[in-house]
Amino acid sequence: MKIMVIQGPNLNMLGVREQQIYGPMKLEEIHKQMKAFADANGLEIEFFQSNYEGEIVDKIQECLGEAHGIILNAGAYTHTSIAIRDAIAAVQIPTIEVHISNVYRREEFRQKSMIAPVCAGVITGFGPFSYHLAMVAMHQIFQELEAIKKAQAQQQQPQQ
Ligand code: DQA
Repeated sequence: MKIMVIQGPNLNMLGVREQQIYGPMKLEEIHKQMKAFADANGLEIEFFQSNYEGEIVDKIQECLGEAHGIILNAGAYTHTSIAIRDAIAAVQIPTIEVHISNVYRREEFRQKSMIAPVCAGVITGFGPFSYHLAMVAMHQIFQELEAIKKAQAQQQQPQQ
């Protein structure tokens, strides 16, 4: 099973931008930790970062037939992008919305997510550890999907 991690605008600036909010950890370090979790649990993982809305939409579309789950921090596009929301709805791949900061403790404009209604769930406010929690949650989603598949296959077997 493969996870696509998509990072939106300004997340390439982690470790530099507003450290009092986002902390000192760089994006590469976060990705290293996610890769370690993926390796330990037999999962494939790929990382993508873009500051452009259309490129994020393209990447979500490319996930079709490629990835089984998406972990997405859309940055500021979380609060504005109907296009990213529509892309997630279109591909129907389980998606987890992630934020480093607790968006509900910040400005009012961050308290609305365009994307959350089409996501499996939202993790916000645990610093870089939010990504680890998202990996655990995605792993759980994959296990549930596998269990459903298995049960369906058993039902299709002819009765003895
Ligand atoms: C963020 C929260 C957003 O409101 C902000 O625009 C970001 C980062 C977070 O991870 O806390 O760029 O998504």
